[in-house]
Amino acid sequence: AAVDNAPAIVVGSGYGGAVAALRLGQAGIRTLVLEMGRLWNTPGSDGKVFCNTANPDQRSMWFRTRTEAPLATFLWLDVVNKDITAYPGVLDRVHFDNMSVYVGRGVGGGSLVNGSMAVTPLKSYFAEQFPTVDADEMYGTYFPRANSMLGVNTVDPTWFESTEWYQFTRVSRKHAQNTGLKTTFVPSVYDFAYMQKEAAGTATKSALGQEVIYGNNYGKKSLDKTYLAAALGTGNVTINTLEKVRSITRASDGSWLLTADRIDVTGAVVETKQYSCTYLFLGGGSLGTTELLVRARDTGALPALNSSVGAGWGTNGNTMVGRANHLWDTVGANQSTMPVMGIDDWANTDNPVFAEIAPLPTGLETWVSLYLAITKNPQRASFTYDSSTGGVKLGWTAAQSAVSVAMAKKLFDRINSANATIYRYDLFGSTSKVFADDFCYHPLGGCVLGKATDNYGRVKGYSKLYVTDGSLVPGNIGVNPFVTITALAERTMTRVLAEDT
Ligand code: FDA
Repeated sequence: AAVDNAPAIVVGSGYGGAVAALRLGQAGIRTLVLEMGRLWNTPGSDGKVFCNTANPDQRSMWFRTRTEAPLATFLWLDVVNKDITAYPGVLDRVHFDNMSVYVGRGVGGGSLVNGSMAVTPLKSYFAEQFPTVDADEMYGTYFPRANSMLGVNTVDPTWFESTEWYQFTRVSRKHAQNTGLKTTFVPSVYDFAYMQKEAAGTATKSALGQEVIYGNNYGKKSLDKTYLAAALGTGNVTINTLEKVRSITRASDGSWLLTADRIDVTGAVVETKQYSCTYLFLGGGSLGTTELLVRARDTGALPALNSSVGAGWGTNGNTMVGRANHLWDTVGANQSTMPVMGIDDWANTDNPVFAEIAPLPTGLETWVSLYLAITKNPQRASFTYDSSTGGVKLGWTAAQSAVSVAMAKKLFDRINSANATIYRYDLFGSTSKVFADDFCYHPLGGCVLGKATDNYGRVKGYSKLYVTDGSLVPGNIGVNPFVTITALAERTMTRVLAEDT
């Protein structure tokens, strides 16, 4: 097959890939981005690019015939999931033995589906997780750069106190305060000026129209509107969609050779393409990048990759839980899909937890307070190559999830006891499941900075091969991870463009 050449190739168009593409393009380096998902810019027959959470259709999930939403049931009824047609939809749920991982698919990766929470980690915890990184430089240069490029903003506190759309958050805050716990506002890349117009009835509803996880039609500054738009604007960056990189090898002249499958909307492989480049940047996310490198090492394609490739993976301690409120403590039928507040008990060294107050935007009063807890779970797992499938297996165990659950339970037992409330038993699929212990939103690690790579994301054992995404983060960062991933990618690109090109 013919080989397409580009000086630089970037695999994936999430946070890590988007930063790499922009900075390469600005440096005048012709760059090709290969993204397995589609470009989300064309309205469907309903006039919308994305579907909402209440009426999911084929656009919702990556080649499924039934949606797999995080909340499996409501009042034990399977009302949450719907039959759909298989299609390259925007949200994927990747199943491993004891853990399934939600990821975004499309130009913009996770930014298309996520909850927009844009949190800079505590400096002390960042320094603990990244002992070899200059934290002063991160907090002086790269975190501010990431926040500004991503368009991070905060909710107007006066509007927050009065709007019906955040009553669910205020109820949870009250319960936290009754427990003596601290709450904090969480910044966002959802445009709150737009959200206020939605509430006023002067703009089409998105966050206030049950849109999130399957995409937002308005209001959200996803990467296609920020980094990737700027990257294309340099004139040096091209994005090929519906192309999944399958393998990486190195030619005798030192250039990188990639094999990619181009699929159509039915998922059929319509072409297998060969690419070659001088500089290869991996931004396929914790799952995508780690799989490519584990496969390359264990099939003998890139034998010099070290044993840290595939290791150090964690869930950011994720677990979800719902509490049942008293009848007089209504959370409201109208709920914004964008969280703006967290319960911050990270300073509790016996049991550090940061719990986001999450919406349950059903359009009905539910009396549910829902949370996404990020716990300081120290458990890590590794990916191994599975020669029978050509894919990878993840060694995460149920006991490792139980560590996150136990930590979250300690916090929410306190909240329930202070408020004389109980848990909800009807949300996660079985009558006994109170804590969601089988999925996560924050896959981190697999090619940890300083272990699988040098201190700047250069993959050990090879030159001109870089990791720029969430695989660099050692399994836990204590807050939602995309600001950290973006800032680390900015740091890598500054160094690499100065020294390697
Ligand atoms: P990311 O996953 O964003 O991008 C990887 C891209 O590479 C994808 O587009 C993928 O299709 C593509 N790809 C992978 N393998 C490939 C291959 N072999 N060939 C071609 N393309 C390939 N975080 C946060 O900070 N705040 C929040 O509010 C939330 N909320 C949230 C909600 C939900 C539902 C999810 C699923 C996730 C979140 N997150 C979040 C997590 C956040 O979205 C996540 O950490 C980042 O998107 C990870 O960025 P990366 O650059 O690592 O990969």
